[in-house]
Amino acid sequence: MARIAGNGDRVAICLTGGSSPKQLYQLLATEAYRSQIPWQRVHWFIGDERFVPAGDPLNNMGMARRTFLDLSAPAANIHPIPTDTADPEQAGRRYESELQSFYGADQLDYARPLFDVVLMGVGPDGHTASLFPDYPAIDVTERWVVGVPQAHVEPFVPRVTLTLPALNSCREMLFEVSGADKRAILTRVLAGENLPANRAHSMGETIWLVDKAALPENFRGQ
Ligand code: 6PG
Repeated sequence: MARIAGNGDRVAICLTGGSSPKQLYQLLATEAYRSQIPWQRVHWFIGDERFVPAGDPLNNMGMARRTFLDLSAPAANIHPIPTDTADPEQAGRRYESELQSFYGADQLDYARPLFDVVLMGVGPDGHTASLFPDYPAIDVTERWVVGVPQAHVEPFVPRVTLTLPALNSCREMLFEVSGADKRAILTRVLAGENLPANRAHSMGETIWLVDKAALPENFRGQ
């Protein structure tokens, strides 16, 4: 909220999928939060998408739309990754063009971040967005969005993902990690292992929101 208020101009927020952000999205559907958002000037993007139809329950932007966006956001301010293209790579190219026209340039300028806020999650293998460990997408630097033909974890559907340069081009990145099944991977992330989640960070602030169940033993009580 502070980040939105701090930018009196057009605001760009990049959402994430998976289960972790659901609670936050439910909160954004409540009157208390809805009334604080200047919906006309906030634009909503998504960091990665499962290559399934928009109405499929697995579709990340579909989940965000059903949970809060469709209640309040003007349709023109919702920017889903298309999944009606021939393949994920073509979807990536289309979304890249959409991001570049929104940004007004096809090169990212360090002094002018693409997003105000990027939300992220962490998968059990240390992936974030659909940047899986040891998959080529994690090392792509010249593209903003790419197709990922195969996923490393469930759901095993092809993905489309923003690359690190695009995700990292933000004023604030917020990781949400919850549940005891995340404790093992969080231990590895906090140990500084070379995992995709450790390579994603904002040009400004990077914040980790971790619930108690996910917190490794040696960090409890700190
Ligand atoms: C996706 C997500 C993915 C997610 C992590 C964590 O499409 O699955 O965008 O990157 O953030 O996998 O998922 P959970 O929140 O479900 O654990």
